[in-house]
Amino acid sequence: MISKKIQDAINDQINEELYSAYLYLALAAHYHAFNLKGIGTWLEAQAKEEIEHAMKFYNFMIARAGTVSLKTIKQPPTQLPPANKAFRLAYEHEQYITEKINQLYELAHAQKDYAFEELLHWFIKEQVEEEASTLEIAERLDQIGNQTHALYMLDAKLGKRNGGQ
Ligand code: FEO
Repeated sequence: MISKKIQDAINDQINEELYSAYLYLALAAHYHAFNLKGIGTWLEAQAKEEIEHAMKFYNFMIARAGTVSLKTIKQPPTQLPPANKAFRLAYEHEQYITEKINQLYELAHAQKDYAFEELLHWFIKEQVEEEASTLEIAERLDQIGNQTHALYMLDAKLGKRNGGQ
């Protein structure tokens, strides 16, 4: 069993995670347009990971006999900043998601839903990594600016990431 309040909050979070996948795909296409295929590949792997995050909430809801209610996924931005600045959108988005996860944790705690708290422990740790990895890349791109050689080196490195890290 799951409370109506937690059920609604989980349905919202499934939507947030699926939007995250959409945002990462939009960013991936943006970097591919600059022929930065490695960064594009990294972002596509991240999009897959976001779908896995949505599925963790989805599967939890089913296991707890809740009702999954899928909502419309909003459109990600179509006008994106230049290559050395656009990655910051990923970091800012991860900070926003961390805030959402923290709010879910507060709700789980207030409602004494210990199973939900347990699920959220995984997400709390994951958000530390998500913020750290997106901030690192955003800062490197910022430092690199228009230095083509350094940019291609970073691109090659990020292209080594496999899907669903
Ligand atoms: Fe699912 Fe990147 O947070």
